[in-house]
Amino acid sequence: MKKRWKITLLVLGVLVIILVIVSVLTWTYLKSTFFDFEGDYVEKTYFSELKSNGESFFDRNNNGKLDIYENNNEPIENRVSDALSQMTIEEKLHLLKGSGISSAIDGDYVPTAIPGAVGTIVPTPRLGLPTIYLSDGPAGLRINPTREGSERTYYATAFPIGTQLASTWNTDLVFRVGQAMGSEARSYGVDVILGPGANIHRHPFCGRNFEYFSEDPYLTGFIGSSMVNGIESNGVGASPKHYVANNQETNRNFNDAIVSERALREIYLKGFELIIKNSQPWAVMSSYNKVNGTYTSESRKLLTNILREEWQFEGLVMSDWFGGNDAVAMVNAGNDLLEPGTKIQWDALKKGVENGTLSDSRIDVSVSRILQLILGSNKMNNYKYDDNPDLEKHVEITRNTANEGIILLKNNNVLPVQQISKVALFGVTSYDLISGGYGSGDVNEAYSVSLEEGLENARIKINSTRGDQIKSNQIASEVYQIIPGFTIDKKAKSLYESHKSFNAESFIKPEGINAIFDPYNPPEISYTKEQINSISKNTDIGIITIGRNSGEGRDRVSIDDFELKTIERETIKNVSSAYHSQNKKVIVVLNIGGVIETASWKNEVDGIILAWQGGQEGGNSLADIISGKINPSGKLPMTFPIKVSDHASHKNFPLQGSPMNMLNFFKSKGEFKSEIKNADYTIYEEDIYVGYRHFDKAKMDVSFPFGYGLSYTNFEFSNIKIINNGNSIDINLDVQNIGQTDGKEVVQVYISKIASNIDRPINELKTFKKTSLLTSNAIENIALNINNDDLRYWDEDLNGWKLEKGEYLINIGNSSRNILFSQVIKL
Ligand code: BGC
Repeated sequence: MKKRWKITLLVLGVLVIILVIVSVLTWTYLKSTFFDFEGDYVEKTYFSELKSNGESFFDRNNNGKLDIYENNNEPIENRVSDALSQMTIEEKLHLLKGSGISSAIDGDYVPTAIPGAVGTIVPTPRLGLPTIYLSDGPAGLRINPTREGSERTYYATAFPIGTQLASTWNTDLVFRVGQAMGSEARSYGVDVILGPGANIHRHPFCGRNFEYFSEDPYLTGFIGSSMVNGIESNGVGASPKHYVANNQETNRNFNDAIVSERALREIYLKGFELIIKNSQPWAVMSSYNKVNGTYTSESRKLLTNILREEWQFEGLVMSDWFGGNDAVAMVNAGNDLLEPGTKIQWDALKKGVENGTLSDSRIDVSVSRILQLILGSNKMNNYKYDDNPDLEKHVEITRNTANEGIILLKNNNVLPVQQISKVALFGVTSYDLISGGYGSGDVNEAYSVSLEEGLENARIKINSTRGDQIKSNQIASEVYQIIPGFTIDKKAKSLYESHKSFNAESFIKPEGINAIFDPYNPPEISYTKEQINSISKNTDIGIITIGRNSGEGRDRVSIDDFELKTIERETIKNVSSAYHSQNKKVIVVLNIGGVIETASWKNEVDGIILAWQGGQEGGNSLADIISGKINPSGKLPMTFPIKVSDHASHKNFPLQGSPMNMLNFFKSKGEFKSEIKNADYTIYEEDIYVGYRHFDKAKMDVSFPFGYGLSYTNFEFSNIKIINNGNSIDINLDVQNIGQTDGKEVVQVYISKIASNIDRPINELKTFKKTSLLTSNAIENIALNINNDDLRYWDEDLNGWKLEKGEYLINIGNSSRNILFSQVIKL
C-alpha cells in the first residue's frame, strides 16, 4: 500500500515537473517569438541639439554634425537615401518587421509603448529613429482606455461605423471625421491609423461589412479617400485595408478568392484605386486571403504591378496581422512591412539574405518606403504628444455624422414625432444601443448614448445656475425657451430592467479579444400581448428597436440574424396591432451593422429608421431624427434585398458563420490544401454582378434599393445640362428644396451603355454630390464631372481597360431606382 502511494506520488511529481518545464518552455518560446525579441533595439529618446542657421535640430546619431536625414528642411527623398546609406544590413532587416504583439496587449515589454496600439515600426537606436505606432481602426482610434499605474483614462471618440459614414454620401463630412480621428491619434502619439476598410460588401453576411463602406466601388473610393485625406491632414498616416477581396471572415487566413480579372478590376480593386489616386495614403494593408491561388501579401502582381506601377502608389504596404506565409516571398512581392512581426519572420529574412533569395536592392526598396514614413512622421518633427485630444469637440462631429448617415426607409405620416409624445420603447437595444461592431473595428469610448437617453436629452437641459434662476422667476423667458420633451414610458422600461436582471450574465459585455469569441448578444425581451396592450393605452407611439452585433472573425448567418428572431416578429406584430387598433403609430429602428431582412414585415409598421451603429452619440443622433431637429438625408450604400438568396453571390458564400480559430494565425500555410468550398476557396461566380448591378440586370424587385433614403422634405432637380467635353462629361444642375423643412439631398449619377457589345451592368454609379442644408425654396447649383476613363470596362482578351464607342445614358437620380433625368451622350 505504502509502496503504491510512493509510486503514485512519484509519478505525480514527475508529471508536475514535466508540466512546469513544458509551460516554462512554451512561455519562453512565445515570449521570444512574438513578444520580446528586439534585443538591443531600444528606442533612443534623448538627443543633443544642433544649431544650423538659427534653427535647432536633433543630433540623432550623435556624430556632432547635422546629417541630411536629421534635417527636416531637406527633401524627403534626400533624407531617405541618407538614412539608408548609413544603415547596416542587420538594421535594414530589423526594420522590415514589427516588434511583435506586446504593445497590443499591454506594452509590458517596451516601456514607452502605447497600450492598445496594435503594432509598431521598430526604432533604429544607432540613428535615433523613433518607434512608429500603428493603431486600429475604421470607426475611431483603438487604444486601451486605462493604463497600469495611471489614474487617468485614454478614451477615444467612437464615430459611426464605416457603412454609416458611406450612408452620409457626404465627402466633406467624412473628411472632418478623418480629421478628428487623426487628431486623436496625433494627441496620443499614434502615427498610423489602420483604416479605412475599403472591401466591398459582396454579400450581406460578411461579419466585417460594418467596417466597410458599400457594395459599390465608386462610393467606397470617394468616401475612403476623404477619410484618408482627413486623417492625414494631421501628419498621421492612414492605411486603407484589406487589399484585396477580403470579403468573408470564414477561414479568412486561408481562403482563396477565385475571381475574374474583370470583377477584380471593376469591383474589388476599383475602390482602392480611387483611394490611391485621390489621396495617396502613407500605407496600404494587404489582406489575409489569397486571390486566385496566391496570398495577396505575396502577390507581386497586386502589390507591385497594379498598386505601384499602374496606380503610382508611393507609400508602404504592410501585412495584416500575422498574414502571409513566406516572409521572403512577401518582401519580394512588395509587402514592405511584416506586422506585427515575429522572430520567425526576422530569422527567415536573415536566411533569405544568406541564401540569396532576398537581394540587397529589394531590401533597400522596402526599407526606403518605411524610412519615408518614419521621416515624414510627426515624431521626426520633434513633436511631443500630450495625451490630451479634444474629445469634447469631437462629440459634435460624431453626432452630426451619425445624423447624416441615418436613413429613413419608410415614413407613413409618423415622423418626425411631436416632442410632447408619450413614447414606449420596445426591445433591448432601445435601452442598450449598439454603438459599433466588435473586433479590431471597435473603439474604447468613454460613454455611449442609448436611444432612451437620446430621447430624454431632447428635452432642454437646465444647468444648476439657470435652474435656480427659473425657480426664483428671474430671466427664464429671455434666456431660453423650454422645449417639452418626450415622455418615456416607465412600464416598458421596467420590463427591460427586469429582463436584464433576470439575464444578468448575458448582459455582461465581453472585453478585448473575448468580444470576438463570445460576441455580446443579450437575449431579446418577450412581451405578452397584455403587457403590450396596457403599454399602448398609456402612450402615443411605439418604437421597437431591432439590434444586431457582428464583427471580426465570424460571418453572419440567416437564422436570428439576417432574418428576424421569432420574438422580434411577435413584438412587431403585437405592438403594431395594439397601436393601430387605437389609431396610433409604430416605428422600427434598425440598430444594425449589416443588412437584414425587411420585406416580410415592413408593411406592418408606419416608419422605419435605419440607424446603423452610430458611435458614442448614436442615441442623441437618433433622437435628432425622430424629433425632426435634423431632417434625414442618408442614402443606402447597399441594396436591401427581399431574400438574401436573391444576391448572386449567395450561391458562393459560407452560410454557417463558423467562428475564427486563433491557431489559424500561427498555422503554417505551406502545405495547406484547398478542399472545402466557400471556406478554403470561394468562387466569385457572380463576377461583376455584385449588389444593385445584379438586381438591376436580373430585373429583380428589392426591398430597398441602393442609393435610396427618404427626407422630411422634397427636392426638385432642374436646369440639367450634360455636356461631352471630349475627355470628360460635365454635368450641371440645380437642386431646389420644394418642401417646408430644411434638408439635404444627394445627386447620384449613374451611367448606362446603350446597345453594348458586351455584357455590362444596366446602371453604374460614377459620381455623386450632397447638397448643403437647403432651406425651404433654396436652390443649390451642383457641378459634377465624369472622366471618360470611368466609362471603360475591363477587357479580358485585351487584358486592359477599353472604352466602348457609341451612346451612353447619363442617368441622374436620388436613388439607383429613382432616375429623374436621363440624357444620351455620344462618345
Ligand atoms: C485585422 C485588421 C487589424 C489588425 C490589427 C487584424 O486581425 O484584420 O483589420 O488592423 O488585426 O488589429
